[in-house]
Amino acid sequence: MARPRSDVAAYVGFATPFAITGERMTQELAAHAERFKELYDVERHVMATDGGILVEDPYPVWAELRAASPVHRGTVRELMGYDSPGGLGGAHGRPVYSAYTYEANDVAFRDHEVFSSTFYEGLTTQSMGKSILEMVGDEHRRYRALVQPAFTPRRAQWWIDQWIQTLVDEAVSAFEGRGHAELNSELCSRIPLQTITSSFGLTREEALDFREGAEGGMARVGDVDVDSFLVRHERTTAVLQRVIEERRADPQDDLITTLVETEIDEDGQRHLLSDEEIHGFARLILTAGSGTTWRQLGILLVALLQQPALLDAVRDDRELMRRAVDEALRWDSTAAIIRRLVTRDVELCGVAIPAGAVLELNLCAADRDPARWDDPDRFDPYRPAKPHLAFISGPHVCLGMHVARAEMIVAMDAVLDRLPNLRFDPEAPHAKIIGLEHRGPNGVPVLFGPALIERDN
Ligand code: HEM
Repeated sequence: MARPRSDVAAYVGFATPFAITGERMTQELAAHAERFKELYDVERHVMATDGGILVEDPYPVWAELRAASPVHRGTVRELMGYDSPGGLGGAHGRPVYSAYTYEANDVAFRDHEVFSSTFYEGLTTQSMGKSILEMVGDEHRRYRALVQPAFTPRRAQWWIDQWIQTLVDEAVSAFEGRGHAELNSELCSRIPLQTITSSFGLTREEALDFREGAEGGMARVGDVDVDSFLVRHERTTAVLQRVIEERRADPQDDLITTLVETEIDEDGQRHLLSDEEIHGFARLILTAGSGTTWRQLGILLVALLQQPALLDAVRDDRELMRRAVDEALRWDSTAAIIRRLVTRDVELCGVAIPAGAVLELNLCAADRDPARWDDPDRFDPYRPAKPHLAFISGPHVCLGMHVARAEMIVAMDAVLDRLPNLRFDPEAPHAKIIGLEHRGPNGVPVLFGPALIERDN
């Protein structure tokens, strides 16, 4: 059933630092929509970070590689016949191996001393500063424990009550009465970005600036316009510093206040996190929180829209919908390849890897390993639930996974409750899930509302 629609009221009603009215608001809404479209264009993103590999179905080749050996010498790209070096793949002349089975991936993620996150040292420092992503051992444990309490399963409700529910309601209200939407840019892209940036006290405009900066930080060296990257970096650093100072003076119930008030124990001495440490945490969490879940939600929507009977089934059974969220993570995780530095000579599932090599962990291939799942290529939320590797395993397991799940569940609930008769728009380009390293749909164009009323504008 369609609810009364009120784009304007929904927009202004949200606790935004800049309530605006009338024509100016219409212009700002349109400008925001354009920036979202541009920043969250999966094809453009794949071109910038995946070396232009718009591959739709890499799974048959990965299945052949997995069947031939759990671990191969060579990068995933080389073994697929591509010559582009790829995103963060700065192996700097090191030998590279890649792993394809569930067992090889899981063992490597857990054996974090041998397969080390020090791979990231220097790679992400320019864009993020030092962060828990590259820390290892005791340092990683101590720093991660500082923010962990804000990311527990129980804390998911706080994220929903503070931000996610309002943002989802607002996004759906903006197109609910229209009968058609492009859900990638009008829903999927907005929820994760605005949730995480709101938890850091940023305005909408600043949120988009951050996203733009994070994109530059993630793009392949050589693709980045260094000057504009540095300008954006300075601007966003100043914004973060302003919020840190504001929260020191006037604490709020949000994540940035938690960081500002957090104390760390060093050699028996307790001290507050330094500004530099807060910036490191903030940049990592802002980047990770705004750069993944949007594509995963799109993958889930595409998987369900491709099977209308299943879409009806999850509408009727929300427990099944929750299972569909995790099945989409297993079936096609947006973060496909993660890298580690091998710290000593080792044998992984029978394959010798020398110290100093880089190991590429192909967790998408691992999550379709027939040794672990029956009929693994099928998207099937009815299958018995088992842990998958979309959030990896071991000490660096995704910190934000319960926030990500909460975002997808609340968004799906709204889609299922408020967009009856949801279906792909037959006149729009066919929705495809693309990308090698970062997977996501090129768009999710849909129609909804009474079956007889097709596009009216
Ligand atoms: C579907 C959505 C998501 C996916 C598939 C995903 C996936 C991952 C993966 C694969 C890693 C491991 C990276 C590595 O060790 O190399 C990771 C780490 C991380 N993720 Fe997520 N993530 C998602 C959403 C989020 C969200 C919403 C947040 C924040 C709110 C977040 C915050 C983090 C952080 C901080 C780390 C680093 C943890 C550490 O190194 O200890 N992620 N994520």
